[in-house]
This record gives sequence, C-alpha cells and structure tokens, in this order.
Amino acid sequence: MEEVIKHVKSNLNTYVDELKDYLRIPSVSTSESHKNDMVICAKFVSDKLKNAGMKKVKIIKTERHPLVYAEWMGAPGKPTILIYGHFDVQPVDPIELWDTKPFEPTIRNGKIFARGADDNKGQNFVHIKAVEAVMKLQKKLPVNVKFIIEGEEEVGSESISKFLKENKKLLACDAVLISDTSLYGRGIPTINYGLRGLSYFEIEITGPDRDLHSGSFGGAVANPINELAKLISKLHDKNGKVTIPNFYQDVQKLSEKEKENFKELKFSDSKFAKEYKIKELQGEKGFSTLERLWVRPTLDCNGIYGGYTEEGAKTVLPSKATAKISMRLVPNQELKKVEKEFAKYVKSLAPKSVKIKVTNMHGGLPLVIPLDGKAMKAAAVATSKAFGKKTVFTREGGSIPIVVEFMQQLKAPAILMGLGLDSDNIHSPNEHFDLSSFEKGIYSSIYFMDEFSK
Ligand code: BES
Ligand code: MN
Repeated sequence: MEEVIKHVKSNLNTYVDELKDYLRIPSVSTSESHKNDMVICAKFVSDKLKNAGMKKVKIIKTERHPLVYAEWMGAPGKPTILIYGHFDVQPVDPIELWDTKPFEPTIRNGKIFARGADDNKGQNFVHIKAVEAVMKLQKKLPVNVKFIIEGEEEVGSESISKFLKENKKLLACDAVLISDTSLYGRGIPTINYGLRGLSYFEIEITGPDRDLHSGSFGGAVANPINELAKLISKLHDKNGKVTIPNFYQDVQKLSEKEKENFKELKFSDSKFAKEYKIKELQGEKGFSTLERLWVRPTLDCNGIYGGYTEEGAKTVLPSKATAKISMRLVPNQELKKVEKEFAKYVKSLAPKSVKIKVTNMHGGLPLVIPLDGKAMKAAAVATSKAFGKKTVFTREGGSIPIVVEFMQQLKAPAILMGLGLDSDNIHSPNEHFDLSSFEKGIYSSIYFMDEFSK
C-alpha cells in the first residue's frame, strides 16, 4: 500500500481542491430554501464515487432529501465494508460571527474553514479519496466496499432509517465504517467505541392568553417566564444530578477495564478548561470529566425564549415562554422510558396557574461497541500506521442515532474512525477541519481496507 500512500501525498492538493468544491454547496438540510442544493450535493457525491471507480452508483429519492449508494463488489471471499457519511450540514447562523463566508472554503494555518468542513463533508470525503487512490493504482480494492451517504443526519435520519429496514440485503456488510466523530487530540489516532443517545423536547408554558402590563398585573398573575425558569431549575439537584424519577435506574456502571482505559488517557481538567476558555468545570458530583462527558446521562436547556427581547426596556408580563431541552442518554437507559418519565415529571412541576405543553421532538439510542472484533482490531492497526502512533480508544458525548440501527439491522459492528477535533467548531461559526487529519484520514482508510482483508 505504500505506493498508494505516495500517490495520495502527491495528489493531496487536488483532493483539497475537490473538497473545496464539495464545501461550496450549501447543503443545509433543515431549510426548505436549500432543497435543490441537497439534490446538487447528492449529484456531486455520486459523481465523485463514479470517478473513484465505484459501481452501481445511485441517487435514491426519498420523502425528503436524496441518498447516495455505490458499491464495488469485486473481491469475492473477502469481507465487505459499508462506509456511511452525511452530506447535509447545519445552518450557518449566527452568520455575522464567521471570519470568512461559510460556503467559501478558505485555508488558514493548515485548516480548511467552511460549514461542513469537519461535520461531515471533510470526514466522508476522506473515504471516497482513499477508494479512488487504491483503485487508480491497483485497479481493485482489497475488500468489497459499499457507500451510503445521506442528506438528513442533522435532521433525524428518517429516510435512511426507512431505507435501511427495507434494504438489509443491499447494505449487508461485515463492518460499518464511519468518520463522523473526533480524535482524542490533534495527531492522536483514535477509535471511538461509544456514542450517547438523545432525547429532545420542547416545553411551552402559557399564562394569560395575551401579554399584560407588568404594572397592572405583575404580582397577581403568573409570569410564564418566571415559572419556566423555576421549572428548569428543578431539573437538577445541588449535586448536579438530574431529578427526573428513575433517570439513572438503568445506567450501566463503568467496568474496571474501562476505568483503567480512561486513566491511561490522562485527561487534564485544567488543560480542557483553558482550551475552551471555561471559567471552571462543573457537573455531576462524584464523576470525572470524561465520565461526565461519555458515560453519564445529562440534561441541558438548548434554548429559551419568550417576552420582550428587542432593544431597550418594555414592561410586560408575557403570555408564553418556551424552552428546548435535551437529554444525552447512555447504555442501558431506555429511550421510551426516559421520554415518558420526563413528560410526566415536567407536567407535575408546572403550577396550576399556567398551562404546559410538552412536545417530544426526536430521539436516538446510545451505544457501546465491543472492542474485541476483527474489524476493531484492523481499525486500530490501520489508524496507528497512518498516524505513526499508538491508537487510543475513546467514547463520545455526541450522538449519531443511525449507528445503532446499522448495528441492529445489519448485525455488523460499527467502526467509528473519528477524524475531527472537538475544537473544530462543528454546529458553530468558523467550523474547520485540519488538513493533516484529512491526509492521515485517507491513509487510515486505505490501511483499514488492507488490514481488514487479511
Ligand atoms: N457528527 C455529529 C455527532 C458528534 C458530535 C460526534 C460531537 C462527536 C462529537 C453529528 O452530526 C451530530 O451533530 N449529531 C447530533 C444528533 C442529531 C440527532 C441531531 C448531536 O449529537 O447533537
Ligand atoms: Mn452534526
């Protein structure tokens, strides 16, 4: 494979130029106004897959955004890997905080800046280029490869979930390879073996049926914002524990082996706080930061609004107040059970003076992937070769709900070959991706195909 690696090195600039073209397409999945950009982006991905030498490349129409499928099945008797990624990106707002325009990719200090640079175009493009390089030099791949790239990851993955259930044969594989997570640190080869799940709600509190003057009515009539704030404050106790009944009941305890592994990662609270300019870390009492991030369930308010938020002061007792609340879940919490308990509990916390509406928006299951499989071992060897260092195993605090579905439906392990950095500003202004990770990611993917074929 060394000649392939050399080929990648000498073609890296072209690959980066192509990545720039990919990043120029504003494929924002949430927004109706970008619906056609999703179609354009699917076409871009399918063209790149064709160029890479993949066969049966198809754009699959769905109820919302298209899916792209491709395969190369020319290695009979060898294992099959399914490479998953998403070409949809998050919205760009607040746009005024970007140093350069989100869909005009720019390179600064060895990093490429654009919406989707890390999450997930940069990371999935790695695998397309890896396949292309091997095909170009060797006219074949060491394993069978399938690609499924979706356009709805950031909005709940509904279409791919349906497609997966109906196309288990088409997607059958021995391992699902995914780069949509993070390295433990710059230059550190990393395999992630866990993701948290997610449960997302909106709660709306209504008091009077219209805004009232806060002088004429304040003090005698419930204020929805005050009540919402009180309610949110009751969702944690003084030890940072979530107060929802039975919330921790099914939470798996950390095994001794994992505890050892966490220790070896030598996580530094002070370095972490400094890097992200956090005044002081805070969280559930009795747990380390890595435990709080990776193996403990959490509850966070993601947004809160209501009343007067424009310039200056206006005296008003608002009619409504709303909050978006999410919970990150861990094995073996049951999504349905958590959803039910949350809704019941939150309703019980609202006083009689107001109306409360609780809406379940979406959810996804948590997972932990066993470390002892053949694919896992091949991935560790491959990433270590690519980065020239020993690979570390980490869990992730974020969620990719479709991963559990892949594992359950296809009965294959997922290999989370994270290439981003937590400091890449995903979902935030000035998203970027290290070009060194892009390069080493391509090597990792090439070595993985080779190692997994042995
Ligand atoms: N790539 C992220 C998942 C991720 C985030 C991995 C942070 C590692 C660290 C993915 O695109 C994402 O943003 N997922 C959402 C879940 C989805 C259901 C909206 C998330 O984690 O909030
Ligand atoms: Mn994302």
